[in-house]
Amino acid sequence: MNPDSSPFTPGRPVSAESFTGRTKQVEELLTMVRLARKKRLQVGWVSGERGIGKSSLAAFVGSLAERDEKAVVAHVHLGGARNLEDLVRETYVQILKDTETRSWGKAIWKAFGERVERVGLWGVDIQLKATPDDFSAAASMFADTLSHTLKTAGKDRKVLVLILDDINGLADNPAFSHWLKKMVDGEVTSRKENHVCLIFAGFDERRCAMMKLNPSVGRVFQPFIDIKPWKSEESEDFFRRPFEKHHVAIGDREIRFLAHYSGGLPVVAHEIGHAVWEIAKDHKVGSLAVKQGVLKATDRFGRRMLHSGIVEALHSEQYRSILRKTAEGLPLSTIEFSKEQLQSLAFTGDEKTSLNSFLRHMGKLGAIVPVFMGDKRGVYRFATWMHRLYFFLAATDLARKPNRKVEQSLIR
Ligand SMILES: Nc1ncnc2c1ncn2[C@@H]1O[C@H](COP(=O)(O)OP(=O)(O)OP(=O)(O)O)[C@@H](O)[C@H]1O
Ligand SMILES: [Mg+2]
Repeated sequence: MNPDSSPFTPGRPVSAESFTGRTKQVEELLTMVRLARKKRLQVGWVSGERGIGKSSLAAFVGSLAERDEKAVVAHVHLGGARNLEDLVRETYVQILKDTETRSWGKAIWKAFGERVERVGLWGVDIQLKATPDDFSAAASMFADTLSHTLKTAGKDRKVLVLILDDINGLADNPAFSHWLKKMVDGEVTSRKENHVCLIFAGFDERRCAMMKLNPSVGRVFQPFIDIKPWKSEESEDFFRRPFEKHHVAIGDREIRFLAHYSGGLPVVAHEIGHAVWEIAKDHKVGSLAVKQGVLKATDRFGRRMLHSGIVEALHSEQYRSILRKTAEGLPLSTIEFSKEQLQSLAFTGDEKTSLNSFLRHMGKLGAIVPVFMGDKRGVYRFATWMHRLYFFLAATDLARKPNRKVEQSLIR
C-alpha cells in the first residue's frame, strides 16, 4: 500500500489521536497539572529508555492540559542547552512559538514587544533580544517569571505547563541541580502560589547524574514516572486502531503477532506498522506481510538506532545461532539473565566456546551490561529493551526459519 498514506509515523512525534496506552501515567501527570493549577509549583520527571515515548507522553499531557485545564503549554527541547541562561532563553522562545497561534498568545507576544525578533530566510524562527544578565536574572526567579507570563496570558489561562525535554547537557552542570532544588525549596518556604508545572523528560542516568551532584535533588521530582514497554493489550490496540480506521482487513492472529514482535516499544511498533503497510496489498494484511514487515523493520531500526557493530556482529552464523537459542530459551519479557541460564541451553560445543567471546564482544559494544549482585558474578542485562528486542528479532530469522514456538503461542 502507498507509504504516503501510512498511519504509522516512524521517527515522528505521535499525534494526539494516535497516542496509545499509558493511561495511569497520563492520569498521574494530569493530577500534577491540576495541583499546580489549584496550589503551586509542581515538578515531575518522565524517564525511560530511548524511543519509549517520554516526549510523546509529555506532549500528550500538554495537549490535554491546554484543552481541559486551561493551560498555557510549551514544549522546550534543551538538548543544546549548557547553562541556565540557555534554558531561560530556549524556554521563552518556545513559549512564544507555541502560543503564536493561540488567542492568549497575542497578549504574551505583546508583552515581549520589540524584544522579539524574527530571523531566518522566511522569518519563521524567532530570537529574543536580551542580555545574558537579563536571562541570568530570569533564571534566579524562574517560577516567578513564568507566573508573570501566565498572568500576562489573561484570566482564562490558569496554569503554565512547561515540558523541559532532553536536559542532557544541563544535568552535568552542578549549577543546574542547585538551581532546581533552591527554586523548589524557595517556593515551599515562601508559600507562593505560582501556578506552574514543570515536566522534565530524560533518561534516568541524567537524573542520577544530577543526584550525584546534589543528592537531595531527587526528592524534587514528584511524580517520578519510569515508562516501561506497553502491555500486550496496549500494543494490540496500537496496531488494531489504525488498520480498522483505514478499512484494512487484518486478523486477530496477525495483530497479536505484530504486538508480540514490537516488544511493546513504540519506536519499533511504528517501524513495524509502517513496513507492514508498505508490503501489504489491496487493503489486506496476511501472515506473510506481517512476517516480511517485521523483518524489514528490524533491519531498519537496527541500523538506525543501534551501534553498527552490533548489526555487523550478527552476520556471524555462530553468533546468530547462539542468539537463536537464547531467544527461544529466554522469554521476550526477560531483560536480565545469567551465564548459568545460558549454559543450560542446548548449545553445541563450538557455540559454548564462542559464548564467552560473544558476551565480551556485546559488552564492549554496550549491548549487554554486567549486573553487580554482591559477590555473584556472571549476571547480565540487555542494555535496553530495544537491544533485547533486536537480539530476539535478529535471531528469529522469520523469513527462512519461522519461530514456530513463538507463533504457536500466539494462536491462543
Ligand atoms: N503512546 C504512544 N502512542 C503511539 N506512538 C508513540 C507513543 N509513544 C511514543 N510513540 C512513538 O514512538 C516514537 C518515539 O517516541 P518519543 O520520541 O516520544 O520517545 P522518547 O522516549 O522521547 O525518545 P528519545 O529518548 O529519543 O527522546 C515516536 O515515533 C512516537 O511517535
Ligand atoms: Mg524524547
